[in-house]
Parts: sequence; structure tokens; C-alpha cells
Amino acid sequence: MHDTLIAEARAILRRNDRGAYTVPTHGLYPFQWNWDSALTALGFSHFDIDRAWTEIETLFAHQWPDGMVPHIIFHQPDDGYFPGPEVWDTGRPVPTSGITQPPVAGFAVRRLFERSRSDPAARERARRLLPRIHAWHEWFHRTRDPQGTGLVAIIHPWESGRDNSVDWDAALERVPTEGVAAFRRRDTIHADPAHRPTDEQYRRYIWLVQHFRNLNWDTARLHEASPFRIVDPGFNGILIRSCSDLAELADELGQSEIAAQSRAFAERGRVALETLWDDDLGQYLCLDRATGGHVKSASVGGLLAAFAILPRRRAGAIAERVHRLAARARFVVPSHDPDAPGFDARRYWRGPVWLIVNYMIADGLVRSGEDACARSILDDSLSLIATGGFAEYYDPMTGAPCGGGHFTWTAAMVIEMLSNQRTPA
Ligand code: GLC
Repeated sequence: MHDTLIAEARAILRRNDRGAYTVPTHGLYPFQWNWDSALTALGFSHFDIDRAWTEIETLFAHQWPDGMVPHIIFHQPDDGYFPGPEVWDTGRPVPTSGITQPPVAGFAVRRLFERSRSDPAARERARRLLPRIHAWHEWFHRTRDPQGTGLVAIIHPWESGRDNSVDWDAALERVPTEGVAAFRRRDTIHADPAHRPTDEQYRRYIWLVQHFRNLNWDTARLHEASPFRIVDPGFNGILIRSCSDLAELADELGQSEIAAQSRAFAERGRVALETLWDDDLGQYLCLDRATGGHVKSASVGGLLAAFAILPRRRAGAIAERVHRLAARARFVVPSHDPDAPGFDARRYWRGPVWLIVNYMIADGLVRSGEDACARSILDDSLSLIATGGFAEYYDPMTGAPCGGGHFTWTAAMVIEMLSNQRTPA
């Protein structure tokens, strides 16, 4: 059974492989996406380690001079996706978007290195990526945390990776729609419109893109200029974890300065994360930096922070929260609490389960000593695959597959989860 699933998952990675990068799925997402690639490399690493390194090297070949790594790289023209390169108009040699995504690459590259340690070429590949990943982390702290709080903000919902979460609703309401050029969406051609954001939300997404474009994509100015500035605990949990992992990798490679700076970023982040904790919900909350208030929204972002490897007390509370969600959803971890306002079992990021999120929460919980909860999350993840195939995401109440099919990072997570069961990472 496991071997069959792994074989199917590998076939999906091969099918979506464009040579030096993968597309998330054919049709809906025809380019390279940032955190998709980093997580996909983990899947490749179990059967083609060379290809795994290449995936991340391609991503970093398109890093901006200021350190940012864009969320999409438009390697080849394809009019099946909106907004395409002409809307972003970032002026890059190979067109890219102008915003970023959760920085999971530091975590992924440390894993790749551990899995190919005996190969001298891997050491060289890690040595070349190390300063680039560090430059990205520095860019985050410089441009997205100008006050030095220890936590960074996202300036567009798409940066979170949880694009359509309820968490962004109130802040997005403040984003105007005047002056947004007429456009034709393509996502609703490939996927059920009931699973996708509304047109009104799309106009606000595009307003932000136009606004940043009018500022010439000067990423040093965008944080202050954006009406949308949110500190997301999930995003910060990923950054903290990647900084910690980069510190370990830098130690291995004898780069003590990068190690010390990375460790300092991670430690400051872990301390500051505490300011996002909410006792009522028993999880972390987003902070709206434009208003200074917490966003009381029961989303999975507050649980994804577990990826940072939390102190025992907080990890225990997150495990308890997952346990309570499991009493109401057939499959954990729903991206929004089924009892909370805004929950929608099928609309993306407003309820559905995502395997990448499950993987990261489970990984963090195991490392904080919450093995039983992590096990139940992984078991649910594999049951979803066995019944619904390799979908983009799943209805937490029924397990029905939703969004795009033959999905790359879902397949990668299955390989990763099943292979780690055999040889713990
Ligand atoms: C959607 C997801 C985002 C992902 C992209 C490609 O936009 O919200 O997290 O990176 O699809 O899979």
C-alpha cells in the first residue's frame, strides 16, 4: 500500500517536472512557486537528490539583488494564469512577481544536506545556497520589521501562502478598489468558483499589486506604503525555524557569522512570538500592524507556528487545540475552526486541510515532544490521500478532494511522510 502511494506520488513529481523546476499542477498553476518548490525538494530528495538540489537552486537563481526571493517565477509564457508577468511588471530578466512567500527554504536545505552529507558535491551546493538564504532572511528583518520587533509582516495576502484565509478579511476591507484595471480571472476556469476567492477580493489583491508597481517595486518602501500589513504567526514560525536550521547548517559549514546572526534572528523571533499568544483560543493570533490590534480569527496560522519548535507548554496547548478540532472535523488540521465565523469546508484556506501545513505542524510538535498529536495529524493526512488522491486540499468534514488535482507538493509530502516513517529524518 505504502509502496503504491509512493510510486504514484513520484509519478506526479515527474509529470509536473519542467526540467529544473516543477509547476504546482498543470493548468491552474503553470509556473514555479516559491514555497511549493522548497517543500517539493523534500519529496525529490528520497529518490533523486540531485533533482532536489536543482529545484532550490533554480528558485534562488531568481533572487532579487536586495535579497528577496519572489513568490512566482514566470519561466515560460502561459496565459492560463492571472495576474501574469505583464501585470506585475517587475522588470526582472526572467519575469517574477514582486512579493514573496513563506521562507521554508532554510529548513528544506538543511534536510537536503543531512540526506546527502556523504557526497562532497552536496557540501558545495549547500555552501553556495547558504549566503543566499541568509540574505533573504536578512531582507525580511530589514524591510518587514523596520521597528525591530523580532517579527516580520506580510504586505499582501498571497505572501502568507494561506492566500484566502479569514485572517485577512478585515485588513483587506481597508484596501481600496478604485483604479483597478479591468481583468479576466483564469483560476475559476481551472477550479470550481465555489472553492476560490470572490471577485471583490480579487480586485483588492490587484489594487495592492498596482500600488506596489507604482512604487517601482522598491521593496524597502513597500512595508510603510501598504495598507495591508499583518504579522502572521504561521509565517513567522516558518521564518524562525528556517533561521534556526540555517544556523545549524552554517555551523556545519564553518560559517560562524551566518550561524550567529541566524541564531539571533530565531531567538528574537521566538521571544516576540509570545506577544501573539491568545489564552481564549489556545493558539497564536495574527497582529494587524496597521491598527495595532490582534486579529481574533481561529485559523490554522496560529497552529502552524508550532513549526518554530515551541516551548513544551505552548506545544502542549497547540496539541490540545488540535485535539479539540478533531472532535469537530473528521480530518485534522482544518485551515479554519469549523465552529468559527467564516468557516467554509470547500473554499480554499477557509476550512480545507492542506498536507503541507499538516506536515509542518506535525514536524514541530514531534520536536517539542508532542508525538501522539503529530501521529494523529500524519494518520489523517495519509487517510485523505488514500481516499481522495493527491489533491490541492481536502474538505475536513468529508475528505472530498478540492482545488487542483495531481498536486506536486501534496505528492512530495506523501513521499516525505511515508519515507520518514521508515527512517526518521
Ligand atoms: C495557492 C496557495 C499558495 C500556493 C500556490 C501554488 O495560491 O494559496 O500557497 O503556493 O497556490 O500551489
